[in-house]
Amino acid sequence: MTPSPIGIFDSGLGGLSVLREIRALMPAESLVYLADSHYAPYGEKPRDFVQARTLQACEWLAGQGCKAIVVACNTATAHGIQTLRDRLALPIVGVEPGLKPAAAMSQSKVVGVLATANTLASDKFARLLASLSDSCRFVCQAGNGLVARIEQGDIDGPLVREALRAYLAPMHDAGADTLVLGCTHYPFLAPTLRELAGDRMTLVDTGVAVARQLQRRLVQEGLIAIADRVGAAPADRYCSTGEPARLQRMLFLLLGVEAAVEAVSIDPAPAPA
Ligand code: DGL
Repeated sequence: MTPSPIGIFDSGLGGLSVLREIRALMPAESLVYLADSHYAPYGEKPRDFVQARTLQACEWLAGQGCKAIVVACNTATAHGIQTLRDRLALPIVGVEPGLKPAAAMSQSKVVGVLATANTLASDKFARLLASLSDSCRFVCQAGNGLVARIEQGDIDGPLVREALRAYLAPMHDAGADTLVLGCTHYPFLAPTLRELAGDRMTLVDTGVAVARQLQRRLVQEGLIAIADRVGAAPADRYCSTGEPARLQRMLFLLLGVEAAVEAVSIDPAPAPA
């Protein structure tokens, strides 16, 4: 029996930071990764565009026979997850910045949050923030420009360092001892962030928690693949609406995975307003 794959979607290659945790936790599953790199970054685009594009991309994954979809993008989750759940009849798991674990972890009770401008401006994020602001102070910062650099393969160049120094400064000044990586691209900046923040800040990434949540959902729905029942999982598929060579290079650089990348074309997105 061939198991149906799990679809993993991101505006670009950031969702690979979630994919690596899913792969580690559930080796019997096969995965279809979709990077909408032609339209990345989403973080500073009109919200209607993000919502429409998220739906188009996830409809495409459903059309590939996926049994569940992980929206491995905070921005797409913030603006598009409700529409997806209304429109697609399969389990949809989203991601959100890890404010809750960060608040529990912080000793100083001051937490820095780095996320895209669109995530920070969303109602979903405002509700999350409000639910925790009695117990902790959050210093929120839009990581403008970072996703575009990471998409180019730059995770530690001078422009990235300069931006990170500027983004971290108000957090340091406020006494933050914990930093939420509120965009799935940012875990790839972790070595640079550690270098810049030294041991002053603990980094919080939700990749492992998302993989566990997906596993719980698959078990609940009776969809989990069990190795000795399904035999070898078919090879994962990696797909990009942008340049396949770029995703292929980053797959190797970031995850050490050597795989072919399929170029896919999905209905043109509506023009940004
Ligand atoms: N990985 C996406 C996120 O988690 C990046 C969004 C973007 O494309 O700007 O928000």
